[in-house]
Amino acid sequence: MQILYIGDVMAESGIKVVEKLLPEIVRAKAIDFVVAQAENVSDGKGMTIADYERLRAAGVHAFSGGNHTPSRDELTALLEDRDAPVIGPANMIGCPGPGYKLVPTPKGNVLIVSILGGIVGRQADVPTENPLKTIDAIITNQELEDRVATVVNFHGDFSSEKVVFGQYVDGRVSIVVGDHWHVPTADARTLPKGSAYMSDVGMCGSLDSSLGVSYSSIIPRWRDGYQTKNELETHGRMQFNALLADIDEKTGHATSVEHIRRILDEVSE
Ligand SMILES: [Fe+2]
Ligand SMILES: [Fe+2]
Repeated sequence: MQILYIGDVMAESGIKVVEKLLPEIVRAKAIDFVVAQAENVSDGKGMTIADYERLRAAGVHAFSGGNHTPSRDELTALLEDRDAPVIGPANMIGCPGPGYKLVPTPKGNVLIVSILGGIVGRQADVPTENPLKTIDAIITNQELEDRVATVVNFHGDFSSEKVVFGQYVDGRVSIVVGDHWHVPTADARTLPKGSAYMSDVGMCGSLDSSLGVSYSSIIPRWRDGYQTKNELETHGRMQFNALLADIDEKTGHATSVEHIRRILDEVSE
């Protein structure tokens, strides 16, 4: 089965890019299952129910999480509902929900899991359980055995931590993909034991910006030490980034992997 993992959908610009491009990509690549990183969907912080519905309508089947997932109380009911395909990080202490779910698809159940790295930007002191012990407990949980594929995102800042995590789960999951950076890495590949891997998949939204935030709101902070508010960049070139992997449902391993990247001149209102 073809599984697409879409990188951090960053605010309104990111939603529009997904709405514009995803239906055509799903058709062209015969994609069976789409997961999107949802921690930044609504103004960069978490996801509203209204935006969840928009992305579902655009073709996203399931939603992974990161450090911003617990930002909005209105998502808590979905995070806690075992039948709603929305998760936060499994090892983030205080985030609602289990951090993993089995999602039914026409080709069998897919297990989605989100894991927070030990170092996540300025929120490095967010309390977390150990990532490696957390993933061990989830992928060996007998209640989750009825599945044909496992998709894990590792949400963190250290490339060294990401490659170690990838090696650690290689052959035991179908896809292990890094996110949180919003900048894609050039290392999409199949690992030796069969897991599809990429250190960071990148983001969807403004291309000419600091991870989706306007340069004009960031540079005075870094140059002059001003306290500035993050303003989202809503104009100019836009980007779409995702990882596509073909998964053999008998083995749960990847037979091919491809980074899909698209640049658009502008996405109109
Ligand atoms: Fe993000
Ligand atoms: Fe993040």
